[in-house]
Amino acid sequence: MAAYIFDRLRELGEKNTYPLHMPGHKRNLRFMPYDFRVYDITETGKTDNLHEPTDIIADAQKAMAELLGADESYFTVNGGSGGMVASVLACCDPGDNVLVASNCHKSVYSGLVMAGVNPIYISPQITEEGLCGGISIRDIFRAFDDYDIKAMIITSPTYEGFTCDVKTIADIVHKHNSILIVDECHGAHFIFSDKFPKCALSQGADVVVNSWHKTLPCLNQAAVISSKGGRVDSYRLREAVSMVNTTSPSYPIMASLDYARDLLSKDKNLFVEYLETLTDARHELAHCKTLKLVNDSIKGQHDIADVDISKFTIMVRTDITGIKLGKILLDKYNIQVELAGLHHIVALTTVADDPKGIKKFVKTITELDKKLERKYIEKIPMTSGAVAVPAMSPRDVYFSSKETVGIENAAGRIAAASIVPYPPGIPLVPMGQIITQEHIDTLGRLKAAGVSVMGMDSNNIITVRK
Ligand SMILES: Cc1ncc(COP(=O)(O)O)c(C=O)c1O
Repeated sequence: MAAYIFDRLRELGEKNTYPLHMPGHKRNLRFMPYDFRVYDITETGKTDNLHEPTDIIADAQKAMAELLGADESYFTVNGGSGGMVASVLACCDPGDNVLVASNCHKSVYSGLVMAGVNPIYISPQITEEGLCGGISIRDIFRAFDDYDIKAMIITSPTYEGFTCDVKTIADIVHKHNSILIVDECHGAHFIFSDKFPKCALSQGADVVVNSWHKTLPCLNQAAVISSKGGRVDSYRLREAVSMVNTTSPSYPIMASLDYARDLLSKDKNLFVEYLETLTDARHELAHCKTLKLVNDSIKGQHDIADVDISKFTIMVRTDITGIKLGKILLDKYNIQVELAGLHHIVALTTVADDPKGIKKFVKTITELDKKLERKYIEKIPMTSGAVAVPAMSPRDVYFSSKETVGIENAAGRIAAASIVPYPPGIPLVPMGQIITQEHIDTLGRLKAAGVSVMGMDSNNIITVRK
């Protein structure tokens, strides 16, 4: 017998690996100077109630809404995932058509099942190097021309830090009396500096979800859902948030949100040194040719409106994969990055990073870059049609009976779960869609390259029984 989770975490802790990944507190005591044991408490009468707040939680949520420029903001202790499920439940009725960017997170698909809505998937643009860009405005017009759409859901920024043109999208959505939900889980820090992309709420989004634990000094699962503009029923939103939250919410999580909001909005200087470190780092990385930093020059291409400078998205332009580079960084240099994909890595920084840690990463990448020879690598295409209606709604798929078929026999079958290469976690085949031979070929190539694929069990795919 052993304490399996505890033992592994202690072992990892002892290695003192530099964390270029979430959670955004980076174990930095300066940003979390408190003892979680003391704050791990329950509703005692003096600690308010997350589900019907009238005291400290109400005040903390109000202060958060003020900071974000929202009409209302609510805490979710179930991460951005809970927030995204709540956003669908709050804005849509069963049977509604919802325009869903196909690069949405798994939690959006859960929301689609729970709300019983009919998604129309819209694909993001894909860069030459296989990353998800923004959503094409032309495709959005086309979708609104063809369908009666209750709400649209987009991811902005993406995992790699690319934002969509939220303002233009919001204008189109509102002209069609529809609601814009933005998954801004990776952009909670945008509010703290104009060096970051503009916040979706300030660009006209109706509902926005921010995972504070990802890019700000908060405990894992700390997230906020906000609304603005009066298009969303306030009662429904509160009910939906309550449905995705436990009745025993973690006070350490809520306190970490509240503390970070207070600390960071009072002391703007905290971002000054961090932003200087980022600027210097990006400057140095710009010299690398093989390990190529994605920089501002991508703005305006592939419907990418802006780039988040806090993320180091580095393309691996040689014959090792991003997965291998991630392993080298960990094994040889004791650096753990957030994401190691087929052709790129993403290193996530936050205001709580030690500037020395960021500098160590930059030095390592520049040294490795000198040793690696640049080569052209053919990319595995991972895109599907621009606008597509699945053969079966996510809810019908969820309640259908299933059967597992070998990948070689899967063409023409309906995917019972989204088939998601991980990283980056974007469905190649969203649930309910028909699997094609092209998908099967792509999956074979991804697996051969060592990419793990969720929604598959070794070489089998779960499909809807015929
Ligand atoms: C784009 C996106 N949205 C939502 C989520 C879910 O957020 P959380 O981890 O806070 O539940 C993730 C998680 O990685 C994500 O990448």
